[in-house]
Amino acid sequence: MIIGIIGLGTVGFGTVDILTKEKERLEKEIGEDVIVKYGCALENPGLPEGIIYTDDFKEVLNDPEVDVVVELIGGLTFAKTIILSALESGKHVVTANKALIAHHGQELFEAARKNNVNIFYEASVGGGIPVVVPAKESLIANNIKKIEGILNGTTNFILSLMETDNLDFSEALRIAKNLGYVEADESLDLDGYDAAHKIAILAMNAFHIFFDFDLINTTGIRSVTKVDMDFAKKLGYRIKLIAQAKKLEDSIGIDVSPTLVPMTDIVGNVMDAYNVVEITNDYVENVLFYGKGAGRYVTASAVVADIMKTHNKELWTHDYTYTDKITPIDVSKYYIH
Ligand code: HSE
Repeated sequence: MIIGIIGLGTVGFGTVDILTKEKERLEKEIGEDVIVKYGCALENPGLPEGIIYTDDFKEVLNDPEVDVVVELIGGLTFAKTIILSALESGKHVVTANKALIAHHGQELFEAARKNNVNIFYEASVGGGIPVVVPAKESLIANNIKKIEGILNGTTNFILSLMETDNLDFSEALRIAKNLGYVEADESLDLDGYDAAHKIAILAMNAFHIFFDFDLINTTGIRSVTKVDMDFAKKLGYRIKLIAQAKKLEDSIGIDVSPTLVPMTDIVGNVMDAYNVVEITNDYVENVLFYGKGAGRYVTASAVVADIMKTHNKELWTHDYTYTDKITPIDVSKYYIH
């Protein structure tokens, strides 16, 4: 496969890095060459030798050799043009762009179908935690009843800090900003839109529906005070920014809002910048996914997995030279973690 990566920020550069370091193993897995031909951004962040740098995304899109375009610039304007143009040229697309999928998923999926290519976006929800595919495919035997969780790491970090360090919202926000957690447009995190993008994507995949994103009821954490938290604690609860999508009799209910979660609940114990998603269904009942929802290598991990998926899994050779059977070593003496 020949890849063009458009957007070389935190995740884009992390993706180049993983593809470079893991090249040999990934090629063995899929049974073909994995070549990053282009890295495209306004400035060259120091691409490894052999990757062509360009600041013109058209150069990537117009190259017939490129069969996978990775869009990591984010936002709703250029990104949409790039993705549609890539799909129309018969190239597969991988993106982490949650806002774009939440707002224009239907149009993009149709463009992919029409052109007989795929668009993958596991990295758009929960960073490195695989959750889009489980919602869509792995739990297909089940009628999913509800998906809920903490899908925004920044606000969970702020709420955790307010509790553990006894800080008010603005102090905790300042620390989150200093650590580089908060999006350039802070409203995306603080007012719940980022979590709304993610729950919208999960709802699309679990319930096979499209809807108008702007109609989702979204409330953020700006008005949560220390006093609210202290009262919640006395009653045995924590305040968490919960995103939920629920199957109703004849519709789907979707909502993002600060919610009281029992301290005895697993979700209530997810602290710092971590994400958690709980999928309630009829046969497996409750499935939980937990892990780091943001970060360079965290999100790049999901992007790389999607890049590999663009090439038909059934063709994967798993071309390893297996060693002969080995004798397992008794590790019970190491049982203290
Ligand atoms: N701003 C997002 C968060 C980044 O805090 O979870 C990852 O999507």
